[in-house]
This record gives sequence, C-alpha cells and structure tokens, in this order.
Amino acid sequence: MKIVVIQGPNLNMLGHREQSIYGAMKLEDIHAQMQNVAKQNNFDIEFFQSNFEGEIIDKLQECLGDANGVIINPAAYSHTSVAIRDAISAINIPVVEVHISNIYRREEFRQKSLTAPVCAGQIAGFGPFGYHLALMAIMQMLAEIEAIKKKSEAAVKQ
Ligand code: DQA
Repeated sequence: MKIVVIQGPNLNMLGHREQSIYGAMKLEDIHAQMQNVAKQNNFDIEFFQSNFEGEIIDKLQECLGDANGVIINPAAYSHTSVAIRDAISAINIPVVEVHISNIYRREEFRQKSLTAPVCAGQIAGFGPFGYHLALMAIMQMLAEIEAIKKKSEAAVKQ
C-alpha cells in the first residue's frame, strides 16, 4: 500500500524559517524518519513539495489510482485554497492534514482551514512530530479499510 506526503509552500524552508514556530528540523530529516517508519510497517511512501497551488492540485489528482492514502500540509493554502479543498474531495481517498504549529492559537487568518473539513482528520500543534502522528493515523486507517474489504470479500465467497 502506498502513502503520498504532499508539502505546501515554504515547507522546503523548514530548519531555516521561523524556528521558534516550526522547529529546527529540515524537511529531508522529517521525511527520512517517515520513510523508516513506513518501511518498518511495509508501506511505500512518496514525498512531494511544491510552492505552487496548481502543482499541489495536479499531485492530488495523480494520487487517484496511485495512492491509498495522503498526508498533506497545505501550509498557507490551507487558509485560502478552495481549489485544493475541491481536489481533496475529488480524489475520495483518506487524507490527513498536518500543521506543525497550532494554527488555532495563532493569527486569526490562520485559525480557519478550508481544507480540513474534507480531510479524514487534522493534526496541529505538535511540531514536526505531527508528521509521525499523521503517518500512524493514516496507516491505522488504511489497515482498517483493508480489513473491512477482506471481510466483505470473504462474505461474498460464502
Ligand atoms: C503551517 C501553518 C500555516 O498557517 C503556515 O502558512 C505554514 C505552515 C504549519 O505547518 O503550521 O506555512 O501549515
């Protein structure tokens, strides 16, 4: 089973940008840790980062038929992008939204996520560790979906 991790604008700057908010870990380090955990659990994982809204939408659309689950941090687009929200709705596979910071205790314009309501769930405020939590959540969700599928296939055979 395959999980795709989509990182929005400025997340390529992690480790440099506003360390007091986003921590000192670089995106590559976060991804390396996720890669290890995914491997230990027999999941394939792919990473994608873009500063462009359209590229994020294209990547979400590509996930249809290619990925079983998605982890996304739409970054600033969470607060503005109806188009990314629509793409998440369109692909109809489980998506977990991550925010490194607790967006609900920050500026008012960050306190609303347009994308979260169409995701399976959201993790915010745990720093880079949130990506690990999101990976645990999506793997659990996919295992449950798989178990239900197997059960209904077995019922059909009987
Ligand atoms: C962020 C929060 C957003 O408001 C911000 O624009 C980001 C990062 C987070 O991970 O905490 O770029 O998504």
